[in-house]
Amino acid sequence: MRVRTYEIGDTQEIVQLFYDTIHEVNIRDYTQAQVDAWAPAALDIASWTKSLSSKFTFVAEESDKILGFGELATSGHIDRFYCHKDFQRQGFGRHILAQIDAKARYLGIKKLFTEASITAKPFFESQGFLVVKQQEVERRGQKLINFAMEKFI
Ligand SMILES: CC(C)(COP(=O)(O)OP(=O)(O)OC[C@H]1O[C@@H](n2cnc3c(N)ncnc32)[C@H](O)[C@@H]1OP(=O)(O)O)[C@@H](O)C(=O)NCCC(=O)NCCS
Repeated sequence: MRVRTYEIGDTQEIVQLFYDTIHEVNIRDYTQAQVDAWAPAALDIASWTKSLSSKFTFVAEESDKILGFGELATSGHIDRFYCHKDFQRQGFGRHILAQIDAKARYLGIKKLFTEASITAKPFFESQGFLVVKQQEVERRGQKLINFAMEKFI
């Protein structure tokens, strides 16, 4: 397994991973209506390419298969951060976050912050993030709970 930077050709696989993980992993903490709103069936590849390219996006890969990805903005914001539904809890998230952390330090970023799902909260806590507040966000008419979390590095 290696963690490398995102390439445009990864987009389709990343979008599929995002959809599958939300519908098969996050579904344990959210309703069907909520996951449908979070990851609708028709995701726009062009806007994903733009978003992934505009940040420092890291991809965990093994034998040409993408196992997870995470995005870092220059503000220190970690937006999307997902591992493959069939490769949960195998340390890939930790490896991706380590690369994000290293990049952030290199850039002089002092604080990493994210809005963690109910599902991802234990992961971020294990990596030293603290909950700032629980919040409710709206996605396509559905209200979802997440946690604003941060870590000073
Ligand atoms: C969050 C996520 C990316 C973490 O990736 P991962 O590869 O599964 O996590 P790791 O295997 O690196 O976990 C590292 C540590 O985090 C903690 N952890 C991870 N998942 C956990 C869980 N479900 N419950 C409790 N602790 C957990 C553990 O301490 C774990 O170490 P251990 O397995 O040695 O005990 C992954 O769970 C995921 O894809 N979740 C669904 C998508 C999501 O909600 N993403 C965030 C969007 S805001």
